[in-house]
Amino acid sequence: MYGTITIATGARKAKADAVAITVRDTTGRLPDAYTELDASADGMITAALKRSEFSATAGQVTTLYPGRGPHRIFLTGIGGANRDDGHAVRLAASQLVRTAYDAGVRRLDLRLLGGLPGTLDINLLARAIGDGIAIANFEFAEFKGKANDSRSTGSRPTRRKARRLELTAEPTMRPGIKRGLLIGQSVNLARRLAATPPNIAHPAFFTAHCRQMARRTGLKCTIINAMKAKQLGLGGLLAVGSAGSRPPALIALEHCPPGKAKAPPVMLVGKAVTFDTGGYSLKPRENMDAMKYDKCGGMAVIGVMDAVARLKLPVRVIGLVAAAENLISADAYRPGDIITMANGVTVEVTNTDAEGRLVLGDAMVYGCRTYKPRAIIDLATLTGGVVAALGSSCAGCFCNDEHLLQQLLESANFTGERIWHLPLWEEHRKQIKGSHGDIVNSAGREAQPIQGAAFLSHFVGERGPCDLPDLPWAHLDIAGVSDTKGRSEGESLFLSGPTGFGVRLLVRWLEKIR
Ligand code: BES
Ligand code: MN
Ligand code: ZN
Repeated sequence: MYGTITIATGARKAKADAVAITVRDTTGRLPDAYTELDASADGMITAALKRSEFSATAGQVTTLYPGRGPHRIFLTGIGGANRDDGHAVRLAASQLVRTAYDAGVRRLDLRLLGGLPGTLDINLLARAIGDGIAIANFEFAEFKGKANDSRSTGSRPTRRKARRLELTAEPTMRPGIKRGLLIGQSVNLARRLAATPPNIAHPAFFTAHCRQMARRTGLKCTIINAMKAKQLGLGGLLAVGSAGSRPPALIALEHCPPGKAKAPPVMLVGKAVTFDTGGYSLKPRENMDAMKYDKCGGMAVIGVMDAVARLKLPVRVIGLVAAAENLISADAYRPGDIITMANGVTVEVTNTDAEGRLVLGDAMVYGCRTYKPRAIIDLATLTGGVVAALGSSCAGCFCNDEHLLQQLLESANFTGERIWHLPLWEEHRKQIKGSHGDIVNSAGREAQPIQGAAFLSHFVGERGPCDLPDLPWAHLDIAGVSDTKGRSEGESLFLSGPTGFGVRLLVRWLEKIR
């Protein structure tokens, strides 16, 4: 399920070996745009639409093999979705590509517009098609070994020949599809990194990866290694990473468009706990392996920075990745420890499993000092509580700025990466007050996602740790959405595994802000 997909910009060069159209219902009524195609295929499309076994449900693709006309026609269902935000279109496009791959199609003519709802914005539609195609074009086979060869010859696994799929589309849709495909590559980068197992993907792996990525894309990469972190007083990052197989690191990626070197940037901060055992507050053994996905916030930031650089967006953006491994050893931090964070706030560790806020807090303080951002968005698989509260169809969103919140909601609506606003009040900040230190990192079972946000609020901006943050800030708790666990069977947009949640949401946001 993986290959190179290009979209032709000029006129069709060669005949396509498949034509795809969209269908929304089974009444047999065909949109005018398809009557000519139907006639060339001897009415085979209208005949199919009338058959009782035919389904036009979103994601259902039916293949016709006309005796005349095009070699194949893919009837791509987009009906029956109870969401009007392009979700059905993304689902349909992804299934279409899977079907085309399976059929060995090399040139696919997309004639989707004729059957798409005219009520949806053409940019959203085109982008949704590009998104869906790119999301389908992903597989994670890097770690398939000798036992993967079906003939079991004992020799090295045979690499499948790289596939090439060339798309043609209506001129009005081409730019949107193309952009969706480009951003989708960054989504898939985030997914690939997130899927990389924790014995490989430790903090040092990501410092090396980001250095290399910066060279390739023109981003600037700065690494705060453990030694530097000690000098800077990043006590939270160091405590969490102290038992790691590799030392923790803070990675800064900077995208600076020409002439914007002095402009206040927007700053993205991602939690990249490369594996979360819980530390001495050890997690249960069931499904602990899923804690390799505790780096997904950081991977989303890497994905966004990759897209921002390749799109050459005219905004200055800083991406921070706080990387640490939460393990157990004689050097590990303990429940009861009191840690001094980079801005002087002291934290009583009540639970070593509430580690994400410690690495993020320091990253935000460092970032605010170094870059003086005009807005901050952090992404983190921060709490199981947000999964209990909201499930896996949206991220929890905390935001102190109405304007920023509205922008993010627009972006969520456009991309289908949905968010839900949750409260953060003075009461919640009181909840995490410490007795021997300033604050605790966990105050029991009540409102855990909000406790996380309340904790982080002490590390935003430079006005001083006692006041509510003075600059626009959003915290996205993505614990429920960063991998497919918990999603219904019907949600076939993603292969099981990481979703890259946040990349499309934030790239869209960055495209729209000035
Ligand atoms: N990484 C976890 C949160 C998590 C849980 C992500 C399930 C994805 C799926 C986080 O570090 C954590 O352990 N949080 C604790 C917080 C608690 C100790 C206050 C939790 O949710 O139990
Ligand atoms: Mn944890
Ligand atoms: Zn964690």
